[in-house]
Amino acid sequence: MSVEVPAGLTDLLKGYTLEVLKQRPADLLEFAVQYFTCLRERRSSTRGSSSRSPVTRGDAFDQDSAPTDSSEEEEEEEDDFPDDFTFKAPPPSKCNRRVSVCAEAYNPDEDEDEGSESRVIHRKSEAQRQRLQEACKDILLFKTLEQDQFAEVLDSMFEVLVKPHECIINQGDDGDNFYVIERGVFDILIQKDGVGLCVGCYDNKGSFGELALMYNTPRAATIRAAQEGALWALDRATFHRLIVKNNAKKRRMYERFIESVPLLKALQLSERMKIVDVLGMKSFRDGELIIRQGDSADCFYIVESGEVRIMIKSRTNAGQRSNQEVEVARCTRGQYFGELALVTNKPRAASVYAAGDTKCLVIDVQAFERLLGSCKQILKRNISQYEQQLVAVFGSSIDLKH
Ligand code: CMP
Ligand code: CMP
Repeated sequence: MSVEVPAGLTDLLKGYTLEVLKQRPADLLEFAVQYFTCLRERRSSTRGSSSRSPVTRGDAFDQDSAPTDSSEEEEEEEDDFPDDFTFKAPPPSKCNRRVSVCAEAYNPDEDEDEGSESRVIHRKSEAQRQRLQEACKDILLFKTLEQDQFAEVLDSMFEVLVKPHECIINQGDDGDNFYVIERGVFDILIQKDGVGLCVGCYDNKGSFGELALMYNTPRAATIRAAQEGALWALDRATFHRLIVKNNAKKRRMYERFIESVPLLKALQLSERMKIVDVLGMKSFRDGELIIRQGDSADCFYIVESGEVRIMIKSRTNAGQRSNQEVEVARCTRGQYFGELALVTNKPRAASVYAAGDTKCLVIDVQAFERLLGSCKQILKRNISQYEQQLVAVFGSSIDLKH
């Protein structure tokens, strides 16, 4: 019987054998899985996968953030396996990315300094830079970065223009980029047990795509453009180097405090850590407006230090809102505010001002929905306390729920 050896098999096995001899792994099978997975990822990325990445030229210094055709890329696509493939055995959870879906299994302190040698800068026009800065100014994940780290993030981001109905992220895929919205409406779709549900949307602000990059998990939702829009993307390696590394610091800074917040006591440690990973910190000066009554809501606050005053515009005898604000409550360290509008889907029920210099931890509405769902019953119970407060202050009842 004559057996024909398929083209490429000898080279494929030779490459693997050489790596085994070089690296002498304890578990040959596990090493093989990692080796061939990395090789396949490398092959599909050189073939041009569906993931978005701008074309970077030469020394990784890009002249223009718009993707262009590259003849070099086309040449590379023809190779089945790249000649220059070198395999560095990653820690087990690294290459085999779809491993952990919970925060306990992941420790940012142990994360390797991915991509530190290959910093990519996408040059931008002054107008682009201004639009980028405006889009990023309220992004919570950037709020705890040092100034130079934030500048590096901005340098690394590249513009992505999207068409109506385009899927920017597909649930189940591996994560490539983190996205900040400049403009456009984006639906959040989740497929569960064969049923697809739209669980929310981003309306011309916010960011998405952090979860797969933070926890090495498949994309948890599909994000689809409802209309034409513009995004700014941050590649996985830079996200790891700057944001995930910073999360280790955030966990050390806020772990104790978050544990002491009464509302969050019922959560498991891993759930509290997930909150820490996505929260931002905002400082307010004495008297500064934090929430305006009647505005639509996009986040939830916990007082870290200082104090806030909750003020409500009283009603006139004719039932209209007067301009006179009356203080109905105060919140200090460990207390929260800004949940009511998120729970009732109504506009903000009160205005909130800093009383003295104040620091608050801030969680956006999507993370609130995802991570604090189990606290909603506690939050809802507190609504009747608010209504009682209002009776005490205004002498008449106000229905906050409907
Ligand atoms: P990621 O899993 O990387 O990709 C899909 C993104 O959708 C996810 O990160 C979040 O940024 C975002 N998202 C918004 N709402 C949800 C939700 N309820 N569950 C999961 N992901 C969500
Ligand atoms: P929200 O309506 O989102 O924004 C204003 C916040 O003030 C509200 O959530 C509550 O968290 C907080 N608040 C505290 N006391 C009251 C009260 N008596 N009535 C309404 N809001 C209150």
